Amino acid sequence: MAEKKQWVVMVTAQTPTNIAVIKYWGKRDEARILPINDSISVTLDPDHLCTVTTVAVSPAFDHDQMWLNGKEISLSGSRYQNCLREIRNRAGDVEDKEKGIKIEKKDWEKLHLHIASYNNFPTAAGLASSAAGFACLVFALSKLMNVNEDPSQLSAIARQGSGSACRSLFGGFVKWTMGNKEDGTDSLAVQLTDEKHWNDLVIIIAVVSSRQKETSSTSGMRESVETSLLLQHRARDVVPQRVLQMEEAIKNRDFASFAQLTCADSNQFHAVCLDTSPPIFYMNDTSHRLISLIEKWNRSEGSPQVAYTFDAGPNAVMIAPNRKVAVQLLQKLLFCFPPKPDTDMNSYVLGDKSILQEAGFEGANGVEGLPHPPEMKEGEVSYFICTRPGRGPIVLHDQTHALLDPETGLPK
Ligand code: DP6
Repeated sequence: MAEKKQWVVMVTAQTPTNIAVIKYWGKRDEARILPINDSISVTLDPDHLCTVTTVAVSPAFDHDQMWLNGKEISLSGSRYQNCLREIRNRAGDVEDKEKGIKIEKKDWEKLHLHIASYNNFPTAAGLASSAAGFACLVFALSKLMNVNEDPSQLSAIARQGSGSACRSLFGGFVKWTMGNKEDGTDSLAVQLTDEKHWNDLVIIIAVVSSRQKETSSTSGMRESVETSLLLQHRARDVVPQRVLQMEEAIKNRDFASFAQLTCADSNQFHAVCLDTSPPIFYMNDTSHRLISLIEKWNRSEGSPQVAYTFDAGPNAVMIAPNRKVAVQLLQKLLFCFPPKPDTDMNSYVLGDKSILQEAGFEGANGVEGLPHPPEMKEGEVSYFICTRPGRGPIVLHDQTHALLDPETGLPK
């Protein structure tokens, strides 16, 4: 190792979040995070939803430390420890000729890390922040430590942080193959198509206001595995076939099949939650009203216009086949789910604002003047995010993105 003691070497990376269209729900091995079925997701554009993580190493650090959204958090949990151990085991030699620093493979076990992570969306909004977070941690560390593994191998490490994180190592459409080996080495993510393959798709997320604290995915799925017969049927008899059909639909950009499968799988996942003892309710009245709106529209047109899917919370993720339909969808959503009075449209519709403009709502123009269905209350939805399928993780080379100070390795 170099003699000079005060150097800091760091890497900053950005990783997207993902939403499953065929859900992962249930583990066959809790410690290794091995699922009972395959799942498929679409990666969301990191311009609108992502995690940025800076990882740093220095001989001056005396223990591993992590900050999430500016607050120090503990790394003592087994999920963090498993990810750190797996990545350290694969670390290679690193040389920074400019700074005259050389770290050899054997040095890594003695060196400590500083990690700072930031989500560009509210962590509490229930938008799969752990998926982007663990994927970003593993990806950034793999770059810092010169780990020579492909993204699928890295996905098997991120999986040990949070199952759904393994699918955030790729852009576009991604499949997490459950694998069948006991050690889990074949339980990893593969890319089905990149984000350009089906780039007409528009995704609108409704962040639904909710007062109640939801059951975490981890404990919810444990209870379903222990008590739901429907979950056994789903994993054995339904998902294998559905995964094949979904892969075909994605390959052929067949929106009607894609939408039918996506909605059916979301509804079955929530039926499994209801079949769990005691039952778990992730969706609320607003979620149900969003489903009715889309189901009625799809039925009136005779073919699916929009797909919807819900994770372990009340938020709706709606997918439209193209901008034209997305504009109609946003108009319907703003009409049926208006903001509270005096809300600026710019803070009610986030992400890709051009869809808002096309829908005829510019700047601070509200929807106050529009007649609303009497049963719809204002403020049921906190805000909408317009986005699209997006790319996988990248390194951010521009130092201005770094979350740690390059001299001290402490949060900026
Ligand atoms: C409903 O990946 O959060 O979002 O593996 O225990 O960390 P752990 O669970 P997590 O579960 C995600 C469940 C889901 C469906 C999905 O993303 O496939």
